[in-house]
Amino acid sequence: MASDQPAERESAPDPHALEFEHVSMFFDDSPALQDITFKLQRGQMVFITGAAGSGKSVLLHLAIGLMHPSRGRILVNGRDISGLDETELLAIRSRDMGLVFQEDALFTGMSTYDNAAYRLVEHELPEAEVDRAVREILTFVGLENDLEKLPEELSIGMRRRLELARALAGCPSIMLFDEPTSGLDPINSRQVLDLIIRARDINGGSSLFVTKELHQIPYAAYRRAERKGSGEVTISKVEGKDRPNTGVIVLHEGRIAFTGSVEDFESSQKPEVAELTHPKSTVREEDIEIRDPWSKERHWKL
Ligand SMILES: Nc1ncnc2c1ncn2[C@@H]1O[C@H](COP(=O)(O)OP(=O)(O)OP(=O)(O)O)[C@@H](O)[C@H]1O
Ligand SMILES: [Mg+2]
Repeated sequence: MASDQPAERESAPDPHALEFEHVSMFFDDSPALQDITFKLQRGQMVFITGAAGSGKSVLLHLAIGLMHPSRGRILVNGRDISGLDETELLAIRSRDMGLVFQEDALFTGMSTYDNAAYRLVEHELPEAEVDRAVREILTFVGLENDLEKLPEELSIGMRRRLELARALAGCPSIMLFDEPTSGLDPINSRQVLDLIIRARDINGGSSLFVTKELHQIPYAAYRRAERKGSGEVTISKVEGKDRPNTGVIVLHEGRIAFTGSVEDFESSQKPEVAELTHPKSTVREEDIEIRDPWSKERHWKL
């Protein structure tokens, strides 16, 4: 064999789904990400948070090969993706990775069915396999009766569930969620979050979950979805080692300001973390004081 790597190295299962090694990304000369190093273990969900412009979306776009890093290496399932051409990247994206974009990214003029099928068709999977995967995922997100509808005929919550379906069709082993509930009301938001927890725990897989809604982090980290004997799936709070394998990364101005467990994130006093978890109010109390209308001191003039 011409390779200078030992054969065992190639066949040994890599414990990591995704790995960033000293990754930097510059746009012109301005840095969006600098020296990012982390590993996403198989089966792990890592939450990524940070202020607007801190580099969260760029990180996800790099992970899926939609952007190429200025420096450093990105490995997907142990394989460096920087040397891959567009066809090989497409194969990885349709087979191994699904991304729920931050912005509305459905194809208008394309049915629910075709939107959900898009990633798989792009990879030229056999039609019967695509059909099975698409029907399964649309049932999973509760859109099995809306196959022919166009995105513009769906409600905002349904559209977001369709985005989820497109990313999760075929159960990719790596799922990337970029603020998947942004712009949704609390009911739709909770529905989408619960679907993500179900996908994580029932289908398995590893995920990066970008959110600025910090309450979603303990919600997803301390709950687990389980299929009961009856086939029904329930999500309940779990403790200790029953909790899913999770972690948190905080980005601050393109750099990792914190990395650790959800518990450590919640109690961290690091300024970059505390400013997210315990933001200082900029409103002075006297500005929001509302006089008590029933006060006895009040003299009503009739
Ligand atoms: N295609 C691009 N061309 C030039 N600059 C870009 C591009 N994409 C992102 N940037 C810059 O990179 C930085 C990080 O952007 P990114 O979209 O990752 O932020 P974010 O953390 O996702 O923010 P938000 O919370 O608002 O979604 C920003 O300064 C942004 O202007
Ligand atoms: Mg973003």
